[in-house]
Amino acid sequence: MERNIASATNQHETQNSIVKKVAPKPDDAYLSINTIHLGDTTLLLDKVHRESIALSIWSPPYNLGKNYELGMTFEQWQELIRTTICKHTPILISGGFLVINIADILCFKDKDMPRIQAETIGRRKYNITKKDIEEVLYEHPSYNKYDLASYFNCSEQTIDRRLHGNNIRGGKYETQTRVKLVGGLLEEWALDSGLYLYDRRIWVKDPAWQNSKWASLSYRAVDEFEYLYVFWKPGIVKHNRKRLEAQEWTKWGSRAVWNIASVKSNDCHEAMFPIELPYRMIRLLTEPNDIVLDCFMGSGSTAVAALKANRRYIGIDKEAEYVNLANSRWIFRTY
Ligand SMILES: C[S@@+](CC[C@H](N)C(=O)[O-])C[C@H]1O[C@@H](n2cnc3c(N)ncnc32)[C@H](O)[C@@H]1O
Repeated sequence: MERNIASATNQHETQNSIVKKVAPKPDDAYLSINTIHLGDTTLLLDKVHRESIALSIWSPPYNLGKNYELGMTFEQWQELIRTTICKHTPILISGGFLVINIADILCFKDKDMPRIQAETIGRRKYNITKKDIEEVLYEHPSYNKYDLASYFNCSEQTIDRRLHGNNIRGGKYETQTRVKLVGGLLEEWALDSGLYLYDRRIWVKDPAWQNSKWASLSYRAVDEFEYLYVFWKPGIVKHNRKRLEAQEWTKWGSRAVWNIASVKSNDCHEAMFPIELPYRMIRLLTEPNDIVLDCFMGSGSTAVAALKANRRYIGIDKEAEYVNLANSRWIFRTY
């Protein structure tokens, strides 16, 4: 292990010395602050000023088959996250942090895995077809998947599967779906990049499943929690107890488990996290006016949280629809 850490540091130092010899870029080559930029994060991170980011906080694609990650293989997903983490080392300030919000597991189809066999007793079958749903949508064009689920008295997953053939909750019910712990992967990629696991918190979402008609064909749990992995770039960390009120320290600042309701049904983004999540991390780990980065910005939640906490932000997302939404943003007026 020690050899790994040393070689990671040497590698990092070598990278730094190579980069230092490159002529400085003109200012317009860098991403402007308080803006959400359109593009692939693995390319745009090269356009962030070195040693400028106090905190980078993001929730990447989870490899669950959402629209913005369709067609991506597990190998491509690993490459995306590994490269993104690696590109943080030069842009974080010394003593700065990278926080990754992700579910601890990810499910993906593995045709080599023995099929999980089950005899299911008393299963309720939904005979809803794509055509049935489309007819209702024709009558009620404003219906979202939750309205449709309520109309058909089924789960929103059933609606999603019928309409898009996808499976937004990761397909744990399928017979050849493997469950993969991702924390170890993130830790390994971060360490290779000279970033050290500093902390991790558990985000317990509301029991959203209470309202869901989700039914699994297995005894596997429906996870209502995710993690926040906190990585540290070596350097001095300013400890300022005044960042939070006394009762905030007691309630969440010093606590490992955070109970925060997830974002319910919305038509803006299929994977928004609650503003409270980045807001807490920003208040805990940065000072006013610091720059906060979210390179998978989605609907702009981190930008809202940064402004609310009097910090600056830089955002990146590859989907023009989300960038427009986040930049124009009804949500900026709602914090
Ligand atoms: C889990 S969502 C983030 C949601 C966000 N935290 C919010 O509250 O709205 C992941 C986002 O990453 C974006 N994304 C996926 N791959 C990307 C890439 N290579 N470069 C930039 N953005 C990407 C997707 O478009 C999606 O909006």
